[in-house]
Amino acid sequence: MAKHGWDVIGVDFVGKAINAAKQKAKAANADVEFFQGDVTQLDFLNPPFDLILDIGCFHSLPIDRRSAYVNGARRLLTSGGVFLCYAFKPEARMSGLAPDEMIDLFKDGFVNTKVEHGEGMPSTWYWFERRFHSS
Ligand SMILES: C[S@@+](CC[C@H](N)C(=O)[O-])C[C@H]1O[C@@H](n2cnc3c(N)ncnc32)[C@H](O)[C@@H]1O
Repeated sequence: MAKHGWDVIGVDFVGKAINAAKQKAKAANADVEFFQGDVTQLDFLNPPFDLILDIGCFHSLPIDRRSAYVNGARRLLTSGGVFLCYAFKPEARMSGLAPDEMIDLFKDGFVNTKVEHGEGMPSTWYWFERRFHSS
């Protein structure tokens, strides 16, 4: 994404994952800032963000941390910003989410604009647009 002109920040709470991502960014000559941190405690980041991309993280959060993540996404995304998420369904993993459940979690301050079923593992792609006003 950095190579396509985005200003990118990457977050993971596992140092090994951050190091691997740093190496990939370096190999691609991409300028990316990385933080080792918990995605349910993003107080160290300041809005506005145009996009939050989550591929396979949200579905692995403990259920009682999901709302903290949603609150963080709501705080960080600018109006019209997008939360794009790939998540397993319950059939794929015990902690996966059914589309109805996912859409319900992001009902306040977001509009679900698109849902696409993933290929391979039972999974779903979600597009949520941040809306500061409901109308
Ligand atoms: C399936 S992997 C992501 C793979 C990556 N998106 C990719 O496409 O290569 C899920 C990642 O989420 C991270 N993760 C899970 N819970 C987290 C949390 N609460 N805070 C930060 N990272 C977390 C894990 O450490 C792991 O690296």
